[in-house]
Amino acid sequence: MKQLQLGKTGPASSAIGLGCMGMSGMYGPADRAESIATIHAALEAGVTLFDTGDFYGSGHNEMLLGEALRLAPASRRDNALVSVKFGALRDPSGGWAGYDARPAAVKNFLAYSLERLGVDHIDIYRPARLDPNVPIEDTVGAIAEMVRAGHVRHVGLSEVGSATIRKAASVTPICDLQIEYSLISRGIEDDILPTLRELGIGVTAYGVLSRGLISGHWQKDAAGKGDFRAMSPRFQGENVERNLALVEALRKIADAKGVSVAQIAIAWVAAQGEDIVPLVGARRRDRLTEALGALGVKLDAGELAAIEQAVPKGAAAGERYAAAQMAHLDSEKGAAHH
Ligand SMILES: NC(=O)c1ccc[n+]([C@@H]2O[C@H](COP(=O)([O-])OP(=O)(O)OC[C@H]3O[C@@H](n4cnc5c(N)ncnc54)[C@H](OP(=O)(O)O)[C@@H]3O)[C@@H](O)[C@H]2O)c1
Repeated sequence: MKQLQLGKTGPASSAIGLGCMGMSGMYGPADRAESIATIHAALEAGVTLFDTGDFYGSGHNEMLLGEALRLAPASRRDNALVSVKFGALRDPSGGWAGYDARPAAVKNFLAYSLERLGVDHIDIYRPARLDPNVPIEDTVGAIAEMVRAGHVRHVGLSEVGSATIRKAASVTPICDLQIEYSLISRGIEDDILPTLRELGIGVTAYGVLSRGLISGHWQKDAAGKGDFRAMSPRFQGENVERNLALVEALRKIADAKGVSVAQIAIAWVAAQGEDIVPLVGARRRDRLTEALGALGVKLDAGELAAIEQAVPKGAAAGERYAAAQMAHLDSEKGAAHH
């Protein structure tokens, strides 16, 4: 599989990474055996980047990924990079209770993650969000200390804007920013992406299929109870109808090229730069196979233009998160000033 470098200081990664969040309930129930089989199929296909968060299923996702890696052949497991997000607080009913990225919390979260994953170091460790009560310099400073102690290899960020990225990078090398980026979420292009390129920081792009919305497989009202998408503005009422009309426009281009809608959407993100690694959220082997097929889809300038005409910048109906969650996005605060 094609390899990319994650930022000028980061590790090499497969050109597509696997995000494991959906395997721990964020998109409704997931099948445990199929989840593990999907991780194994990804390793077998040469995927080396696996993303998780300690708060996905309150530890469930890390234990699942840890088990899958332990069960995999050592030759595959040894190449795997594990990216872990921390800081989001949960309660026993699955509710969300803010963020904690104080240095003492960083070390505490890390100790538990190492244990749940069953590993002696984490390849990329990152705060899921900026903790408004803690300077980012303190948070990444604590991770840098853990790098020096051998518990972490690289420091990453998630959903923060340019000012925060610059502050973090002044303390320690940052390998990548994990942030939503897709045909219908292009907010990073104006300010964040140029900052990352100036500083030599890579992107791990999530939501490249907008959580399934632009995968070509989504049906209106398909989200059940406990599925993030049941609450997400883009999946509601008139919004989802307008968004699915964009998908149909994309489908015409995909059909003409003989590829799937999901493959076009992933290939479009991949075509935006060698510094961008799309993280796909497949939780079944068939979806994974489809997603990895995007690596073989080459888009020329004419095709890229046709795709951007079918789904113009800013065409999505609805924000990418509900208002309460948007308020936690430092990455969106920067955008408000432009
Ligand atoms: N840093 C952050 O704030 C943040 C936020 C969210 C996610 N993430 C990370 O990014 C990863 C990917 O995120 P995402 O869920 O937003 O990904 P996504 O790839 O945009 O959406 C994944 C969903 O799309 C559907 N789908 C349909 N066809 C697919 C195909 N061929 N391949 C893959 N999925 C297909 C699946 O839903 P069904 O299974 O229901 O069909 C799947 O659960 C997560 O697992 C997580 O690690 C990070």
